[in-house]
Amino acid sequence: MVGSVLLERMGAEGDFADLTTTFYSTSQVGEEGPPVGDAASGQRSSALADAYDLSALSEHDAIVTCQGGDYTKQVLPQLREQGWKGYWIDAASAKRLDDDSVIILDPVNRDVIDRGIDSGIKNFIGGNCTVSLMLLALDGLFAEDLVEWMTCMTYQAASGGGARHMRELVSQMATLAEKSADLLADPSSGIVPLDQRITEVLRSDAMPIENFGAPLAANLLPWIDSPLDSGETREEWKAFAEGNKILGRSISLPGSKDPVPIDSICVRVGAMRCHSQAFTIKLRRDVPLADIESMLDGANDWVRLVRNDKQATLTELTPAAVTGTLDIPIGRVRKTRLGEDFLSAFTVGDQLLWGAAEPLRRMLQILRESGV
Ligand code: HSE
Repeated sequence: MVGSVLLERMGAEGDFADLTTTFYSTSQVGEEGPPVGDAASGQRSSALADAYDLSALSEHDAIVTCQGGDYTKQVLPQLREQGWKGYWIDAASAKRLDDDSVIILDPVNRDVIDRGIDSGIKNFIGGNCTVSLMLLALDGLFAEDLVEWMTCMTYQAASGGGARHMRELVSQMATLAEKSADLLADPSSGIVPLDQRITEVLRSDAMPIENFGAPLAANLLPWIDSPLDSGETREEWKAFAEGNKILGRSISLPGSKDPVPIDSICVRVGAMRCHSQAFTIKLRRDVPLADIESMLDGANDWVRLVRNDKQATLTELTPAAVTGTLDIPIGRVRKTRLGEDFLSAFTVGDQLLWGAAEPLRRMLQILRESGV
């Protein structure tokens, strides 16, 4: 899914012009390659090459991969052992926290990326989608170093699990609709029987749950990824670990600011491909709300403040409004009753675009422009 969105974005932005590309696959070697260029051109790449062919891979100046962590762990060390000095641009988490990698989110950390290129870093890795979307939304506050600590309560879409999860969510919705069709068609049947029917179906074997392991439709799942000893899930831990690395904040980096404590509860909800997040933010000092709003609005080319009223929120700050766009709306911004230095906010972002594909294609452009 990330790969498809990446190709679409690269085509739309004309990234393939003047670029010599070979497409590789681990499973479809020899099959027709994907389209390159815009849809109208109909231009296609040559047949898919073998993604385990190290000598072919090592011919390239840069490799962009959305294949996943297992592939990265297997192939990258072998390429490096053979002396390959090219740039590895990856969507998987496998290398994100390694010292020889930079996590890429250039609207937020272009300085970290540039320092990485100058110091000879060759591995540039896209961040976790939730973390990247959070940092884009709060760019204005982090740029002013205003965040003392924060919590993220997430509402993550089915697409975070992959294409099969998206399909399963819709199948679950269809199952619920099908099994309750007679009651739905008869408004006089009352709500209690309809509710009971839905509950029975949710708890029955009729629901397709092969991918999520539980019904997501008419439900939510407060667990994403694997457990850690801290009691967090790995997805929750990434907000702190990756978020601070993207910002260049680390206790082990000489001269860097201390990491910002970030704590999360990550929840899967029945949205298709937009992750939403609610923040509680402890500010380092009391700043007037109007100033905070101006800092947030337009801190980068994609984040946009949404008025804190019902109409603007329901039309501009929902997964349905944002899906398929690069917009990062942030709304419900207010001071809380915890104190004038506590802020509340809500954001939505497409986890396949800014959350995954966009940082990769932009990194390739940065390398091309920097002439390395
Ligand atoms: N781990 C994320 C999720 C997606 O499950 O929603 C990838 O960053």
